[in-house]
Amino acid sequence: MRTWKNDPVLFAEKFFNWTAHEAQKTILRAKGQVITIAAGRRFGKSEAMAIDSLFYSFKHPQTIQFIIAPTYDQSTVIFETILKFLSKSPWQGLIEKIKYSPYPILKFLHNSEIHARSADKYHNLRGRKAHRVILDEAAFIKDEAVYEVIEPMLADYNGQMIKISTPYGKNHFWETYMKGLEGVPGYVSFQFPSSANPYISHEFLEAKKSEYGESSLRWRIEYLAEFVDEQDLVFPWHLIDSVVEDYQIPVSKEDNSVYYMGVDVAKYEDWTVIIVLNQDGKLVYFERFNRKPWSYVVNRIADVQKEYNAHGYIDATGVGDPIWEALTEKGVYLEPFKFTSQSKQQIIDTLRGKMENKEIVIPRIPELIDELRYFEYEMRPTGTMKLEARYGYHDDCVMALALAVYGATNKQEAKSFNLDIV
Ligand SMILES: Nc1ncnc2c1ncn2[C@@H]1O[C@H](COP(=O)(O)OP(=O)(O)O)[C@@H](O)[C@H]1O
Ligand SMILES: [Mg+2]
Repeated sequence: MRTWKNDPVLFAEKFFNWTAHEAQKTILRAKGQVITIAAGRRFGKSEAMAIDSLFYSFKHPQTIQFIIAPTYDQSTVIFETILKFLSKSPWQGLIEKIKYSPYPILKFLHNSEIHARSADKYHNLRGRKAHRVILDEAAFIKDEAVYEVIEPMLADYNGQMIKISTPYGKNHFWETYMKGLEGVPGYVSFQFPSSANPYISHEFLEAKKSEYGESSLRWRIEYLAEFVDEQDLVFPWHLIDSVVEDYQIPVSKEDNSVYYMGVDVAKYEDWTVIIVLNQDGKLVYFERFNRKPWSYVVNRIADVQKEYNAHGYIDATGVGDPIWEALTEKGVYLEPFKFTSQSKQQIIDTLRGKMENKEIVIPRIPELIDELRYFEYEMRPTGTMKLEARYGYHDDCVMALALAVYGATNKQEAKSFNLDIV
């Protein structure tokens, strides 16, 4: 018989006044050594994991659980949720201490502990032992972190691992997910769309679906929790990861370096993006703004061009054209680039090729990385490819990057042109 002592669902109802929805019940009652849960955004992953870790902690004195997330901020989300639940519950009397520094730890009187850690500096986790590890947004934690450091943490006690996430490429998360589907002993896997959570607004979900399009990558990955084939992606996610490095921008101009610039000019609701690469293909400057007067746009582009003495291309399609002209009149010369399906395809192909050859490096700019991930080809009714971000997406960062890369590729011409005007 299920009682609160053996069932996390009843435990949560009785002591935390929290009623799991049906899909959360399935997860909370699952048994397995490695449990992998692919679930859409706002499914209720963090709340379910908070309850899950609390139940385990009460049931198993003298155990250590780690909640590990890709970043420090994310790791504190479940931790804060746990504290929020405890604050309204009789169980808060069992808290021995709460520490926040150097990282969050919750210790109960019966000596079970919950630690919250981030996986970005995963080497710091080396040598820690755990009875149980919960990976929140697991798919965004690097393979190396999981295989080299997190899995070995469980070796001492033959511990349990729970991974919960929206999907992201085909990495460790995908691998354990598949093992569960294939019935490998000890592995259990689930997949739930965001709509499984009855507590979020279904109008919101419907709006997202029509905004992005039912067949869009973003809808399928983030809300349906589908694993998408890398071949359906213009920029496979492992490819994006392979060119991302941690560094600060802007990187100041070096005397001996040559710089290449790409500018995508805002049309209606989108953004103007200015990107500068150095001669090694490293992104050294990024700027993005919208809803600014024409003169502001011209001045910003002119200032950045002068700052780096950069060569390159500017989108001269539509409203981009008068901007290009105004710059030229100011003595700031960038090559005009007219976007067509073919010309876009060409610069996107060049960008992808450069990424494959590791000839470019970008820092962690969330807007840029997000646009690269979801950049997709859309079929026209005529059957030809239309290379464009869908409505509701932006591709301005990608196009600015592609223009800068294209400028660097055509540098012979750019240089000789420059000599002409000197
Ligand atoms: N069982 C539940 N009962 C009530 N509200 C819930 C429940 N599970 C999730 N929610 C609510 O749904 C939203 C998303 O939950 P969250 O755990 O943050 O999702 P995720 O981590 O999947 O993004 C939050 O507003 C949360 O309070
Ligand atoms: Mg969450």
